[in-house]
Amino acid sequence: MGRSLFARKPLSLLLEELHGEDRLRRVLGPVQLTALGVGCIIGTGIFVLTGRAAHDTTGPALMLSFVVAGTACIFAALCYAEFASMVPVAGSAYTYAYATLGELFAWIIGWDLILEYSVSAATVAHGWSHYFQDFIGIFGIKIPHVLSNAPFDYDPALGHLVATGMWFDLPAVVITAIVTWILVIGIRESASFNAVMVIIKLAIVFFVIAVGAFYVDPKNWQPFAPYGFTGISFFGHTLFGQAGKGGEPLGMLAGAGIIFFAYIGFDSVSTHAEEARKPQRDVPIGIIVSLVLCTVLYIAVAAILTGMVRYDKINIDAPVSDAFRQIGLPWAQFLVSLGAVAGITSVLLVLMLSQPRVLLAMARDGLVPSSFFGAVHDRFRTPWKSTILTGVFVAILSGLLPLRILADLTNIGTLLAFVMVCAAVMIMRRTHPEAERPFRCPAGSVIPIFGILTCLMLMFALPAENWWRLGIWLAVGFVLYFSYGRYHSVLAKMDLRGNRSK
Ligand code: ALA
Repeated sequence: MGRSLFARKPLSLLLEELHGEDRLRRVLGPVQLTALGVGCIIGTGIFVLTGRAAHDTTGPALMLSFVVAGTACIFAALCYAEFASMVPVAGSAYTYAYATLGELFAWIIGWDLILEYSVSAATVAHGWSHYFQDFIGIFGIKIPHVLSNAPFDYDPALGHLVATGMWFDLPAVVITAIVTWILVIGIRESASFNAVMVIIKLAIVFFVIAVGAFYVDPKNWQPFAPYGFTGISFFGHTLFGQAGKGGEPLGMLAGAGIIFFAYIGFDSVSTHAEEARKPQRDVPIGIIVSLVLCTVLYIAVAAILTGMVRYDKINIDAPVSDAFRQIGLPWAQFLVSLGAVAGITSVLLVLMLSQPRVLLAMARDGLVPSSFFGAVHDRFRTPWKSTILTGVFVAILSGLLPLRILADLTNIGTLLAFVMVCAAVMIMRRTHPEAERPFRCPAGSVIPIFGILTCLMLMFALPAENWWRLGIWLAVGFVLYFSYGRYHSVLAKMDLRGNRSK
């Protein structure tokens, strides 16, 4: 029993599988991989969550929140890069866990990655909807009120959830359906679509920094940290810093926990390892270049935004474009809104592209039904059935749940995955010291250990209820594993055959 629960997938088997049938097409080079990274990173986090974080949690200290969250991500990214260069197959952290920590942990991480990809896609679809509504609002067009947002939301002033009087978020549902359709058609088309979006998005971010810089009033940076520099709680008990009405941590570190969302996505590069032409070299490049580039841009945007508008006047739905409205540049508001809509679309695209690939890797291992999740379309060569299922799931979540809840849940789930990847790097070095590592993260175990500590710190900077939500999610995952995956696992069956033939 214990044996198959923690059975590890041999590294040799993973590498052998790379040459099997039904693989995805190898079409992506380093620039496309970096573009996929940037495509997935810059989106709702910087365009939407910055507003909420600065307004309710950090003030101008948001700049430092970006430094802290970016540092945690760089540690994790280096660990991802080491793994991705060793095991360049689809599935990302899930595959790494299977090779090192065993099947049960692989399942936990695969299940957890649904939070990272599908739940974050729902968050992003919501953010898209905010900017889309901001954009059409410039022309006086309005979505019917009851179809413009989720039916409930968290009110920081009251400290609890309140009914919004709305039914669901129609634009979020529509954009999810469109992206699903694009993804079913194929990766090559999706990658070029993504490249155009990334160029637009980077242009807008540079525009915000360059034009906004002329409108910064340093007085707006005072007070710099109105909510303090900390913000850590332990299952609801404040350890460091202030707490809000609902008990949520406040301060610079708490802000880092929120805007961590803005960095999610660099790891999605590793889910495309199987579609990379030279995965060993290009996947680490894609991960690290995209993350470093975005970190620098984010810190600059946070400084400009909080310098343009006093933190308590920052709009929480479409903060970046609204800052230009507030300083009296409506044409710039128009440009930023339009760019944000395009930019956020590319995030949705990459997140929803990544999810079915993780499921595909799990299906190949028998942990989820392979007739469904393993089905690759004859003509398009895409995992089309699970792409459609992902689309339906994302549409339901984004239509009905509020942005902040979705974002926090994504953050805690992703941080857990990062902790496990950092741990797995250390385990893999011990169990397979001889394996070829085209990229090795420097300074021994320092980086994985710092990765684990910083990610745990950010998990404790999030409101406590996220731990319960994460616990429930994992409990549902256990039920599924023990009722299906465990009995259909390809590895367990191989094990059994091996034992019988002895
Ligand atoms: N990092 C991505 C975003 O901010 C998920 O939208």
